[in-house]
Amino acid sequence: MHLHRYEKYWLIFGVGTLVVFLSVIGVTAFAHGHHPPSHMATVDAENVRASAPFDEPGLKKIDENTYEATIIAMTFGYEPNKITVPKGSTVKFQLTSQDVVHSFTIPKTNVNMMITPGHINQSEHTFKEAGSYLVLCNEYCGIGHQNMQMEIEVTD
Ligand code: CUA
Repeated sequence: MHLHRYEKYWLIFGVGTLVVFLSVIGVTAFAHGHHPPSHMATVDAENVRASAPFDEPGLKKIDENTYEATIIAMTFGYEPNKITVPKGSTVKFQLTSQDVVHSFTIPKTNVNMMITPGHINQSEHTFKEAGSYLVLCNEYCGIGHQNMQMEIEVTD
């Protein structure tokens, strides 16, 4: 088969562009940080409530200013659906979902986690101001999605 010189150039250009494109996609899709915010810790998605730490959802004090909040996300809410901590506390959140993908989003903070079944999703935040913080689900999860919320009360 005889290829015209320009055909060859275009072929090389086309294949080259494809390689660059796929490399960019590959690197950005699999680069560090693009895994669940869980440090890859997993939990048995079928038996969430039988698996530590989700057999005891709730708030636990770790030290003077640090708390650990173990929360289960579900259609359509969180358990527990309210926690209370004093101002200045750092709360380490660990969540999983007992059904579908949800999120755990605290507006105006950097906490915005996708909550994936089978994974322990972790994030933390230091609450410097007192007040009531609303937590929302921003992953569409079904008919009651817009009602899925919880409250973090930060006391003075
Ligand atoms: Cu849970 Cu939307």
